Parts: sequence; structure tokens; C-alpha cells
Amino acid sequence: MQASGCSIVFFLIFSSALVSFSFALSDAEASYIASRQLLTLPENGELPNNYEYEVQVKMIFANRRLRRAYIALQALKHSIFSDPLNTTGNWDGPDVCNYTGVFCAQALDDSSLSVVAGLDLNHADLAGFLPVEIGLMTDLALIHINSNRFCGILPKSLSKLVLLHELDVSNNRFVGPFPEVVVGIPNLRYLDIRYNDFEGSLPPQLFDKELDAFPSPPMPAFVLPPNIGFQYASPPPPMFPGYN
Ligand SMILES: *[C@@H]1O[C@H](CO)[C@@H](O)[C@H](O)[C@H]1NC(C)=O
Ligand SMILES: *[C@@H]1O[C@H](CO)[C@@H](O)[C@H](O)[C@H]1NC(C)=O
Repeated sequence: MQASGCSIVFFLIFSSALVSFSFALSDAEASYIASRQLLTLPENGELPNNYEYEVQVKMIFANRRLRRAYIALQALKHSIFSDPLNTTGNWDGPDVCNYTGVFCAQALDDSSLSVVAGLDLNHADLAGFLPVEIGLMTDLALIHINSNRFCGILPKSLSKLVLLHELDVSNNRFVGPFPEVVVGIPNLRYLDIRYNDFEGSLPPQLFDKELDAFPSPPMPAFVLPPNIGFQYASPPPPMFPGYN
């Protein structure tokens, strides 16, 4: 595959910068949510094969992939502890394409199928965790959950999202070492994990991925020279006006 000129430009700055939310979580609340996530994770953190068939759903769906998305979205809804803007208030019933923040499109491999291609919950101020079932939404091309209060870890099942192009989890309360799972997402081109509580160094494989900065200005891009950990190429400008 031909590497583009800006192949190693991406957002990947670890930061403990906190943003003042109107509904900020205390550390105790964040660790409570993280421990709830731990209780739900299968032993190895992976999504069991055939999991979708173990879940009873008495509804009719236009296709099996929408049923899988329904299972995932209901699991996500149940992992949310606080939803002050009522974003998930209409996440009921089989018509997942009508859920707030959920976007459907034709399947890439079968234009006769409508599938869930995007999850955009930016700035929803949701507190919760990402359930392992998120790996059922294998048609997702983008996940944008920036500026929420998601806690815990990024589940390993994200690696099942083979079409995922953009992953923006910035400005949440995710913890733990660098989320290695992102290295295994084959089509990932845009990654933003800034403004969380991640710690540690970056895996060298990350620099073999062809990640691009997105979107282009006014969002800042950062350059990470290979093999020297992580650093800003220039002082970090605020991500959003009035954000620091
Ligand atoms: C949240 O949204 C649902 C569906 O739109 C609505 O029925 C419900 O009354 C809303 N709840 C609040 C607290 O606004
Ligand atoms: C989805 O929402 C639209 C607009 O509110 C509505 O017209 C349509 O019937 C809904 N689709 C289903 C299947 O409920």
C-alpha cells in the first residue's frame, strides 16, 4: 500500500487535561463505572463468537446486521449511567436508524441492505462505559464520542470493527495503558484519544499504520516522530475555543 506524505500525522496525545463539565464525575464515580465495566467484560475482554444468537430479541429487523446493531446499542444504552441531554431517550425499538446519534447507510458489500455506519455522540455529556457488544456493529465506519464522560477501558472487541475509519474518543475519562486494540483495527485512518487518563508509552506498531489527521484545520494536527514516545510537535492549541 502506498504511504501518503502525511501518513504519520495524527492525533495521539496523552493528556490529563480535564475539562470542566457541568456534570463532572468525581474520581469515585469514574472508578465505580469502570468497575461495572469490568464485571460485564468476558474473561479475555473479547466478544464471544455467536454472541448475537445468545441474545433473545423478540422484534423484527430489516436485516440481521440491524439486529446485531440493536443488541449493541441496547447494551450501550444500559451501560450509560447519566444522560443529561436525553440523547438515548429514543433508543427503543427495532428502528435503530432513527436513534439519535446513529446513522445508517447502504452496506458497502450489499447496497440492498441498510446498516449502521456511524455512531456520533459528540458532546452528549454521557457518563458510562463502552460495552463489549460494541464489536457487533461491524458496519461502523466512524465512532465519534468526544466530550462525554466515558470511563473504563476501550474494549478489545473494537478490533472486530474492520470497516472503522475514524475513532474519536477524546475528552473522556478512559484509563489504562495505551489501548493496544486500536492498532488492530485494520482500516483506521483517524484516531484521537487525547484528553483522557491513559498512561504509558506508545506501541511502535502504531507508526506502521497509515493514519491521517482529520479533519483538516482548524483542528490541530500533531506529529509524532517514531520511536521516541510521544510529544507535541508544537505547543498544543486548544481543541475547541475556550476549551483550556
Ligand atoms: C427523553 O426522550 C424520550 C424520547 O424522545 C421522551 O419520551 C422522554 O420524555 C424524554 N425524557 C426527558 C426526561 O426529557
Ligand atoms: C423514523 O423516523 C421518521 C421521522 O420521525 C419516521 O417518519 C419514520 O416512520 C421512522 N421509521 C420507523 C421505521 O419508525
